[in-house]
Amino acid sequence: MTLPAPHLLNDGSQLPAIGFGTYPLTGSEGADAVSSALEIGYRLIDTAVNYGNEDVVGRAIAASDVPRSEIVVTTKLPGRDHGYDETLRSFEASAEALGLETIDLYLIHWPNPSVGKFAESWKAMVQLQKDHRVRSIGVSNFTEAFLERLGAETGVLPAVNQIEVHPYFPQDALVEYHREHGILTEAWSPLGKRAAPYQEQVIADIANAHGITPTQAVLRWHVQRGIVPLPKSANPERQRSNFEMPGDDLTVDEIAAITALGKPDGRLFGGDPNTHEEM
Ligand SMILES: NC(=O)c1ccc[n+]([C@@H]2O[C@H](COP(=O)([O-])OP(=O)(O)OC[C@H]3O[C@@H](n4cnc5c(N)ncnc54)[C@H](OP(=O)(O)O)[C@@H]3O)[C@@H](O)[C@H]2O)c1
Repeated sequence: MTLPAPHLLNDGSQLPAIGFGTYPLTGSEGADAVSSALEIGYRLIDTAVNYGNEDVVGRAIAASDVPRSEIVVTTKLPGRDHGYDETLRSFEASAEALGLETIDLYLIHWPNPSVGKFAESWKAMVQLQKDHRVRSIGVSNFTEAFLERLGAETGVLPAVNQIEVHPYFPQDALVEYHREHGILTEAWSPLGKRAAPYQEQVIADIANAHGITPTQAVLRWHVQRGIVPLPKSANPERQRSNFEMPGDDLTVDEIAAITALGKPDGRLFGGDPNTHEEM
């Protein structure tokens, strides 16, 4: 197993090359899943207020033998808490639920443009970072136009934008924009969740050629594009198989063949950040 090197973020800190997604893991299933993920070697754990599992994630981290300093904990500000003071209060509630004094990566979950307050939240997050309560700040589901607005209004660009990326929705243009502006791309639903693109023949053929599974081929496709995938699995064997990076690199042509599976309407549930809002 050769784990890819961590990424250097635009604020000087590091982010592991692969993370663990925790939605919709709650209760004892959630605790067991996070515990086994940490045991297997995942060091980036992705939660959110709206997953209703910050407490479970926090308890699993506290119970783990892995030193806290090695774990990058991500949580996300929900839409109902947009605004400067609201963000500061929401952060304290998340920190308390997680049982942590500092959060490693804090993201705005959705821009919710009709609310019109994401830039106010961003200013509060910049302050939280200055106060050393948050190590890195970022966003999720931001388009190029929303990122431009953040830069214009605050002068601070996010370290990370966590967006929908899978073979049916490769987001080449936004990923390239991130690269040009020093923003790291994280992929949610990296395996395509319900759509299961890893069942595509082209992916099966590439996997066979490298002696890996189709899901491992999809995860390699992300990693070689410079993207941090956040696969979720409740099953320790699948967690391990997703975490390991066996085999050699995919070729440029193989990466292009997987990207070519993309469709303009390839989003999983119509989550266009211009219109889809989550509170
Ligand atoms: N920022 C956002 O707006 C946003 C939105 C959606 C998701 N997310 C984050 O992204 C994470 C991942 O997204 P996701 O859970 O939607 O999708 P995903 O990771 O693409 O897919 C998860 C599904 O794939 C199955 N699976 C996992 N590994 C597998 C394997 N090796 N072989 C076969 N099936 C496998 C899982 O089932 P089992 O559990 O049974 O293995 C689960 O049903 C979430 O947990 C969350 O942290 C963020």
